[in-house]
Amino acid sequence: MMSTVSDNLLSVQYLHRCQQDSVLIQANTISEVRNAIRSFRADGKTIALVPTMGALHDGHISLVDIARQHADVVVTSIFVNPLQFGPNEDLAKYPRSIEADIARLNESGSDIVFTPDVEEMYGRSPNTVFVESPDNDSIFEGAVRPGHFTGVLTVVAKLFHIVQPDFAVFGQKDLQQLGLIRRMVEELNFPIQIIGAPIIREVDGLAMSSRNRYLNSTDRTRATLLYKTLTTIKHLFASGVLDSNHLINSGLEMLAADANIKVDYLQIVDPISFTPQSHATNGMGVILAARVGATRLLDNIIL
Ligand code: PAF
Repeated sequence: MMSTVSDNLLSVQYLHRCQQDSVLIQANTISEVRNAIRSFRADGKTIALVPTMGALHDGHISLVDIARQHADVVVTSIFVNPLQFGPNEDLAKYPRSIEADIARLNESGSDIVFTPDVEEMYGRSPNTVFVESPDNDSIFEGAVRPGHFTGVLTVVAKLFHIVQPDFAVFGQKDLQQLGLIRRMVEELNFPIQIIGAPIIREVDGLAMSSRNRYLNSTDRTRATLLYKTLTTIKHLFASGVLDSNHLINSGLEMLAADANIKVDYLQIVDPISFTPQSHATNGMGVILAARVGATRLLDNIIL
């Protein structure tokens, strides 16, 4: 059941949950989401934000569950952010499934879903002020996707200002993004606790991602080699191999067995600074980006 409430200040949709008396509030504008949050704040509630680009899968729902464990109120944003897509990337075909997403959030116990459009987030004229990390723009995802992290940091900073959460939850699957957001929060003094959420995997190990739906069935099978490679590296490390070159070369050999998998990078890095490590130690990240057929996938494992 769904009803709409409007007045001069607030025009939001309240999506009633079956068998519960709580409701999911859908806010399309910045003033709507702020008004909704203000009323929860007035009751002394804490707020957690789960930023997403929609096309929600179980991995996103696990972020909502984690957010719920930390705060009274969970705000999930759905916004496909054009600023983080390069001119030749998949912005136009990025999967969008807003109705299904809202239904899932309604079941999952999210309290507010913020669904702005591009004009609401960026206004009519292009942004002139950005948040950027020049160091990260030249390494790994930053090097492969110029401008990507400026887009991510800028939109996340905007979401933080709009929602002003106590907590924000991000998946560890985008490990470089997570490290960078932690640094932004620390260096720019956002009073927000960042929570990294474990990667959720399909039964065969493939990390859940909205882009997995681009894989045809052959490539979907091939893609399982990514996680197998990462777990092999982790087992080698656990058995006492600490030399990063040795570990990485073993992984590259495994991936080379399939000519349809093109590796962008496989590296052992500090998970916050993303500095490559010549010796592997506990807590370091093994990061992998590869094209499987036409689809580019990311995965990682923490040693
Ligand atoms: O990880 C994502 O889905 C996006 O990069 C984020 C954090 C929602 C910013 O658009």
